[in-house]
Order: sequence, then structure tokens, then C-alpha cells
Amino acid sequence: MPTSQTGNPSILARKDVASHFHPYTNLRAIEKDAPLMIVRGDGIEVIDDAGKRYIEGMAGLWCASLGFSEPRLAEAAKRQMDVLPYYHSFSGKAHNVVAELSEKLISLAPTPALQSGRVIFANSGSEANDTAFKLVRYYHNAIGKPLKKKVIARGKGYHGVTVAAASMSGIPIMHQHFDLPIDGVLRVSCPHAYQFANDGESPEAFATRLADELETLILKEGPDTIGGFIAEPIQGAGGVIVPPPTYFEKVQAILKKYEILFIADEVITGFGRTGNLFGTQTYRLEPDMLTTAKMITSAYVPLSALYVNGRIYQACADASASAGVFGHGYTYSGHPLGCAVALETLRIYEERRVLEHVRAMTPVFQRGLQAFAAHPLIGDVRSVGLIGAVELAEDKAARKAFATQRGVGAWLVRRAQAHGLILRVMGGDIIAFSPPLIINEAQIAEMMRRFSLALDDTVAWLKSA
Ligand SMILES: Cc1ncc(COP(=O)(O)O)c(C=O)c1O
Repeated sequence: MPTSQTGNPSILARKDVASHFHPYTNLRAIEKDAPLMIVRGDGIEVIDDAGKRYIEGMAGLWCASLGFSEPRLAEAAKRQMDVLPYYHSFSGKAHNVVAELSEKLISLAPTPALQSGRVIFANSGSEANDTAFKLVRYYHNAIGKPLKKKVIARGKGYHGVTVAAASMSGIPIMHQHFDLPIDGVLRVSCPHAYQFANDGESPEAFATRLADELETLILKEGPDTIGGFIAEPIQGAGGVIVPPPTYFEKVQAILKKYEILFIADEVITGFGRTGNLFGTQTYRLEPDMLTTAKMITSAYVPLSALYVNGRIYQACADASASAGVFGHGYTYSGHPLGCAVALETLRIYEERRVLEHVRAMTPVFQRGLQAFAAHPLIGDVRSVGLIGAVELAEDKAARKAFATQRGVGAWLVRRAQAHGLILRVMGGDIIAFSPPLIINEAQIAEMMRRFSLALDDTVAWLKSA
């Protein structure tokens, strides 16, 4: 049997490609290459069906914060399955775990406005953002501003794949062939200084330029038509884009001025990734709504939660009273299994002081990545907490990327995988790192060592090409 590009010739892999419609994959390529079949997890590592171990440098999809074998989460899930495997919260019902988790989340809310608000549950980041998008409409209708509905989102933003979430996302491949974005989503530029700041422009001046662009768009469209603005504190899938200093301060002043709801998409940053419980604290945000998912359960069970401030909740409550019902909710909103696993995850974060651990590991991770800054292939290195990236450059001085079709980043990531390290490449040959939050110093060093081997291979390959 031929060995595939992913190095996985297994029978399991062949069965998979005969029946599985893969998400976020080149579907023709995977028919030939077959996927890497992961069969087990062990701490920060995953193990394939040939027994090979990989450090999961992305915690899966930025999510498995406690690694891949936390027994307490499995036990919490089993306990809940034994007692109440399913119940809902529609039409006057609830259950004890959704009540307990709601209270816990409100107690952890990062701002007074959210502490005096509510949480509404869904199953994925996409659904949470979709709900936020709908609430921009519901809220403005409720307060008698039915024209104030458009949502402004940013280039390279990633908010998920439902129709509204994909529309708000600023990544072309998510729109192509899907007839997206829908009307009513407007776009402003991405705050990626390395790629988009002008020569000689300071980070603060770049932030001012972007804030001016936002205000100009609002004025052009009419402030009475703009209902919301959505932003990730750090843009993840767009390429781990860290906002320049003063960016959010300037943007938030404009949002306040024109009474535009601010949705913080904390699907990646929520629950410790940046060294604070929320990116909202890291960047002093004052969101009206805040979406979380992923690390809320260490990704062991699908669950997402959307915080809304008290003002939005009260307006929705009034409108639902006059309509007769708040016409939104998922069969699995606040699923008992997700809630039980989330509660146990949050207990573990507290008991094991995971936030303190992230803060202690931050300089180690940062130094590890910064060691690559002088490398001739690397144009930019950035990180906050335990999320980071290196951005490849063909010409460092000119901040010039390799041509996309050369696939240099993809090649590097395949070499990392061969060396036992799973990373992810984003558009523009950006290699992302987002390891489980439990990673320790020795494991960070090993992750960097394997990356360095992959980089050496890439240099050799480019020379030979
Ligand atoms: C910032 C952000 N928002 C939303 C989503 C969508 O979440 P999901 O894939 O759970 O729908 C993601 C997924 O990676 C994300 O990174």
C-alpha cells in the first residue's frame, strides 16, 4: 500500500476517505493522501494508529486545554450520563447543572456589565456567534431602533461557519461558492501591523488609521444603521494577529460614541489562553456580548456560552413578554453533559491554578518562539500567553511572503508532523502554536526543538528546489 503524504497507509484511513466528507480539507487531496488517524490521547500528546506520538502544538483546534487524557472530565461525563443524560431549558424547564454553570459563569464574567447580565448556551463557537448576530437584531427591534442592524466585522476575522458567523468572518475561502457574506455585514481592515502597517508607521499610528477607517465607514453608512461590531481579542485562524497597542481603546471609544454593540469573540481566548481568564481582561475590553466555547469544556464535549449584558437581556425579556416567547434556542442548549464537563473543567482550572501556570509558562514559550526571530525564513514572531505564531518570509527585510502556490508553510507543517509535532498553517504561511494550557517547560523546549528540525528541513528543501 502506498504511503500517503500524511504518512498514514492504514486500513482505518482508507475506510475513512471512502465515507467521510471532511471539513476544512482539500477533498480531492485527502482521497489520495488519507488522513492522519489519531486513536488515543495522552497528556499533551496524541497517538496515531501506528503508535507514533505527536505533541499537539495546537491543542487540537485551540481547545484541548487540559490535554487529551484528563480522567476527571471523563468521570464527570459518566456521572452526568448516569443521572440525567439529557434535558432542555425550553418553556419553563431547566436542570440543576445548567443552573449551576450559569451562576458559575456569571461569577467569572470579566466586567461588571456582564456580571449583571446572563448567559445563553449553544454547542459551538459558530452557534454562539450566530446567536450574538441575531441578538443585535432582536435588541435593536426591542428598543425601537429597527434600522440599527448592520454588523461590522474585520478582515481575517474568524467567527465560525454558520451563515451569519461565516458572513462575519473575513476569510475569502469561507465565502467562495457559499454565496456569502449575507447583506448587512460590513468589513474593516485587519489590525495586522506586520502585513498592513505602512513603512515607518508606528503601531499606534496604525491603530489610529484603523480606528479612523472604522469611524469613516460608520459615518458613510449612517450610525443609525450600525448595530454591532465583532472582534476576537487576538485573531486566531486569521493568523494569530495581535492587535497593536491602543487599537481596542480607540475602537471602543468609537463604538460607544455611536451606540454600537461590541461582541467580543472569545472562542479561542476565553478561559486562560492569554494568561487572563478572558482576553477582555488582557485588552481592557468592555463588550456588550462575549462568546466562549472550546476551553470551557477543554473541548471534551461541545458547549458554547454567550454572555449578554443586563441591558440587552432586559430588552430581550420585555420583547419576549410582548411576543409571547423568546423564539430562539437549540435542542442541546445547556446540554447536561456539556454543563457537567464545563463545571468540572472550571473546577480543575481553579484547583490546579491553570491561569498561574499559563503565566509562568508564558515567558518560556515566548523565549522559545523568539529564538526563531533571527532565522532567515522567519519574518515575524508574536505571542501572548500561550498563543503564538511565526510568519514566514521569502524576503525578511521587505516583509515579503512566499508565493502561496509554493506551499512553504504547508511543507514545514508536514515536516513538523514527521518530527512528531502537530502545528497548523494559516494563510500567508503563518505557523500557529496554541498548545494545551498544561504544557510544561520541558515540553515547550521539546516542541521548539521539533519545530527547529522542521525548519532545517524546510531550508534544505528550499535550497534544493
Ligand atoms: C475565534 C473563533 N470564533 C468562532 C469559532 C467557531 O467555533 P466552532 O468551530 O466551535 O463553531 C472559532 C473556531 O475556531 C474561532 O476560532
